[in-house]
Amino acid sequence: MAWGADPDDGERVSFERLWEELRPLGRADSGGYRRFTWTPADLDARAWFADTARGLGLDVEVDRNGNQWAWWGSGGDAVVTGSHLDSVPDGGAFDGPLGVVSSLSAVALLKARGVAPGRPLAVVNFVEEEGARFGVPCLGSRLLTGAVAPSRAQDLRDSDGVTWAEAMTGADLDATRLGADPERLARIGTFVELHVEQGRGLVDANAPVGVASAIWPHGRWRFEFAGEANHAGTTRLADRRDPMLTFAETVLGAREQASLAGALATFGRVSVEPNGTNAIASLVRAWLDSRAPDASALARVVQGVTELAAERGDRDGVKVTVTPESETPVVEFNADLRDEVAGLAGGAPILPTGAGHDAGVLSAHVPTAMLFVRNPTGVSHAPGEYAGPDDCLAGVEALTTVLEHLVTR
Ligand code: GLV
Ligand code: MN
Ligand code: MN
Ligand code: MN
Repeated sequence: MAWGADPDDGERVSFERLWEELRPLGRADSGGYRRFTWTPADLDARAWFADTARGLGLDVEVDRNGNQWAWWGSGGDAVVTGSHLDSVPDGGAFDGPLGVVSSLSAVALLKARGVAPGRPLAVVNFVEEEGARFGVPCLGSRLLTGAVAPSRAQDLRDSDGVTWAEAMTGADLDATRLGADPERLARIGTFVELHVEQGRGLVDANAPVGVASAIWPHGRWRFEFAGEANHAGTTRLADRRDPMLTFAETVLGAREQASLAGALATFGRVSVEPNGTNAIASLVRAWLDSRAPDASALARVVQGVTELAAERGDRDGVKVTVTPESETPVVEFNADLRDEVAGLAGGAPILPTGAGHDAGVLSAHVPTAMLFVRNPTGVSHAPGEYAGPDDCLAGVEALTTVLEHLVTR
C-alpha cells in the first residue's frame, strides 16, 4: 500500500510499521497470500503476532485449540478484538490481517493516549478461519465455542492427507486437548472484529467504515462423482462413464438454482483422478460453497443441486455422493451493540454480508459487533483486495473509539 507517511503523524507510522512488517509473510509469486494453517508462512505470522503483542506489553498465550490471545489485564468481562492471519489460496493482503493489525494498533493508541481500562482487553488471532487447509472455516472459534467436536477436528485432513492433529503437533503444540473452552468463553464480555469489506457496499454508501448487521447462512458440501477411467482415443462416447460430464452439468445447474433462489453457489475447488489428458477421469471431487439470504433459500439450492447431480449421474453411469462439510446458520448481530458501534463510528452505515467470520461464531455466545473498512475494488479472496491508507486509519480510529468506550464504561 502506498502510505506516503507523514513522519510527524505517530498514528499513521505505527499502523504502517505493523502492516509493513506483516506484509511479506506468506506472499506468493501471484501477489496473493498462501498462509495456510500450521505451515511455515502461518507460523511466521503467528511469531510476528506474539512478538508484536509482547512489544506492546501484552501477555501472550495460545489456547488449547491453537488460537493466540494477547491480554492487557486479566480476569472476566473482557473486551476482545481481533481476526485471523490465515488466507485462502492466493488470497488478498487484508482479509484477516487488517483486523489483527488494526486491533494491535488500537491497543498502541489507547496506551499512547493514557487510557486506563476498567476491564481486561485482549487481541485474538483465530486459527484456520478460512478453512483453506482443513476444509472447515472458523475452526478455531468453532472449537472454542464447542460448535465442532474435537474428535472431528483432530481427524480433518489436508489435501496431502496430513491430519489437523499431526500438523498442530508439527507446530510444537499439544493437539490432544482440543475442544470447547467454556471458561475462556465466559471471560469474553464483548467481541469486536474489524474486517475489510468484501464487496462494494461502502463504496456505494460513500463511507470509509461500516458496521455489520447480519451474515447470510452458508455452507460447504463435498460432491464426489465416481465414474470409470478409460482410453480417451478408443472409448466410444456411448460406452463412457465420464464423471467430468456429470460435474460440468452440475456446475451449470448450481448457477441456475442459485439464480432462481436469489442465492449464490460456487464450485471453486475441484480435484480429478487420475488427471491425465488422454484418459477419461475415474473420479471428480468438487466442493460447493453456497450462501443465501435465508435458510430456506439455502436449503432449496443445496437440495436442487444434489437432485440434479444425482439425475445426471444416473444418466451418465456416474455415482454421486454429497457430504456436508460445514454449515453456518444466519447471524444477526446484537442490535444494541450494532447501533452503539455505528454511533461511535460517526454514524457509520449498517450493512449485511455474505462472508463468514469468527465474529459470526462468537455472536451466538457473546454480544458481538463487526466494523468493515471500505474496499474500493470490491474484490476479496484474490490479490486485488484492497483498502486505502486513509480508510485503514479511519478503521483504526473507529475501532479505538469503540474499544475505549467499552473498556471504560
Ligand atoms: C470466509 O472468508 C468466507 O466467508 O468464506
Ligand atoms: Mn476470507
Ligand atoms: Mn476474514
Ligand atoms: Mn471469513
